[in-house]
Amino acid sequence: MSPGPGNHRYVLGISAYYHDSAAALLRNGDIIAAAQEERFSRQKGDAHFPRQAVDYCLQSAGIGVADLEAVGFYDKPLLKFERILETYLGIAPRGFRSFLMAGPLWMRDKIYIDRQLRRELSYDGPVLYSEHHEAHAASAFLPSPFDSAAILTIDGVGEWATASIGRGEGRDFEIVQELHWPDSLGLLYSAFTYYLGFKVNSGEYKVMGLAPYGQPLYVDAIYRELIDLRDDGSFRLNQKYFDYLGGLTMTSAAFNELFGGPPRKPETPLSQREMDLARSIQVVCEEVMLRMARTAHRVTGLDDLCLAGGVALNCVGNGRLLREGPFKRIWIQPAAGDAGGALGVAQLIWHRHLEQPRRVVSNRDAMQGTYLGPAYDDEEIEGFLTKIGAPYRRLDRRNLSECVATLLAEEKVVGWFDGRMEFGPRALGARSILGDPGSPRMQAQMNLKIKFREGFRPFAPSVLRERVSDYFEMDVDSPYMLLVAPVREDRRTPVTADQQALWGIERLNVPRSDLPAITHVDYSARIQTVCRETNPHYYDLIAAFERLTGYGVLVNTSFNVRGEPIVCTPADAYRCFMRTNLDALVLGSCLLHKNEQHPMESSDEWQLTHQLD
Ligand SMILES: [Fe+2]
Repeated sequence: MSPGPGNHRYVLGISAYYHDSAAALLRNGDIIAAAQEERFSRQKGDAHFPRQAVDYCLQSAGIGVADLEAVGFYDKPLLKFERILETYLGIAPRGFRSFLMAGPLWMRDKIYIDRQLRRELSYDGPVLYSEHHEAHAASAFLPSPFDSAAILTIDGVGEWATASIGRGEGRDFEIVQELHWPDSLGLLYSAFTYYLGFKVNSGEYKVMGLAPYGQPLYVDAIYRELIDLRDDGSFRLNQKYFDYLGGLTMTSAAFNELFGGPPRKPETPLSQREMDLARSIQVVCEEVMLRMARTAHRVTGLDDLCLAGGVALNCVGNGRLLREGPFKRIWIQPAAGDAGGALGVAQLIWHRHLEQPRRVVSNRDAMQGTYLGPAYDDEEIEGFLTKIGAPYRRLDRRNLSECVATLLAEEKVVGWFDGRMEFGPRALGARSILGDPGSPRMQAQMNLKIKFREGFRPFAPSVLRERVSDYFEMDVDSPYMLLVAPVREDRRTPVTADQQALWGIERLNVPRSDLPAITHVDYSARIQTVCRETNPHYYDLIAAFERLTGYGVLVNTSFNVRGEPIVCTPADAYRCFMRTNLDALVLGSCLLHKNEQHPMESSDEWQLTHQLD
């Protein structure tokens, strides 16, 4: 196989056909591009072949498919089919109904992945497959800042494995223990997500955010009936309570009976029962994570831990692992869900199959802040704004930071679109909506007027790395917003008896610290630490805000409206700006004020969608 242009060697990784399709490209082993298909297709969690993400990766390197040394896929399709077939045969006739529904799809799209991949890519070079949890483990360890580390992957299910413990050393790793289908922490959590009326595979975050409102009243019932948890973190689930083996729903009639009724209908009001259930499953999830981590520590004898798999997005659990677990340091892959499998398989091919060395540079991870998606320079942005006739001002960066910091200090809400898009589910200051965390009104304002969503979750703070311990009971890096820690005691506001007696979501409106917009009802916060090396513009903005207000913290929420993927292009950002009550928009060096924009007609929107993306 000959190297690509300029003697560079390229490996492309792909994840697809389950949820969250993505592509990632390595050049000489360095991650040079990675993105989820949903950002381009505008279909949230898009599971199709990641056509546009692949095109983006290849274009960003200036290469074609013929220049790829290998293509990797994050899943072994035949192993997965074997699991599905055995599962359905094993429980026939109960599973017959949904096998008929699942069967043709698998036959068409999944067994013949090799043929399909080659056809989609027009590629006839080597295609290599990793196992699903191998890809997660690779994405956890290989880009981590550790020379050697324990690895823990936990998700719903891949082929057979639902969780794995591994040991990474140098350029390779081995998986030493696995937990197998149908005993799955991810699916247990998803079953509750479904039961609580949220969308499986994306609403798990809401369950975690709802948990602090509840009491752990159902923990005993979960341990007694649902899960037989052992000391080492492995467990058996009582399948009587679940329906994901054979049915079309996650939970069975016995589950409904145990927890006192049918699943909550989506979009109906939340009651205390849902809050208590959310708290209960969160408590159990954290306990399983802690036990698994202790086992990983024991069997590897190593002091650092890498995490991936969908459950690694449970940042409350991660925070507890950090505080109470046996590891000195923890690193979590920012694209911990299945999108990250694309990166994992590419790195696995580079280091294991092509036997290339791995170098860890001064304890720094290889993700480059996970800013691995498309960027648009100021000329492109100005070209776009001129074309649509949008009034704007282009400022030098220093001026821009000062202007935007001033707007934020005046409690304005600003869309911030700058540099390369984030890879992974969180917005980290490249495609973010920003606000003042000290404003008691900010939370309600951003939820209702901008995000159009349920207001029970507080927003997340972005904080200057060197200031994190001034505000929070934590002093480690959390660059990917995957750790939750308490707000410092001395910043908390005492709550009166009347306020204490408030119910549910009303409680969130009571300021609990001098940073009310980012403080949850249990005083926790989901923290992103910002370093100047990885995102200088965002860092400088927060520093400018600190000079004005004394606070080196901003509210950071993803740049999208409810139900839509995070914006990708300037046109996506402008459309979102005009559809919501954002006060200002930053596109690169350009600043736009809402009150100066011409009202957008639906025909303009159509043009934005179809001509300018
Ligand atoms: Fe997974």
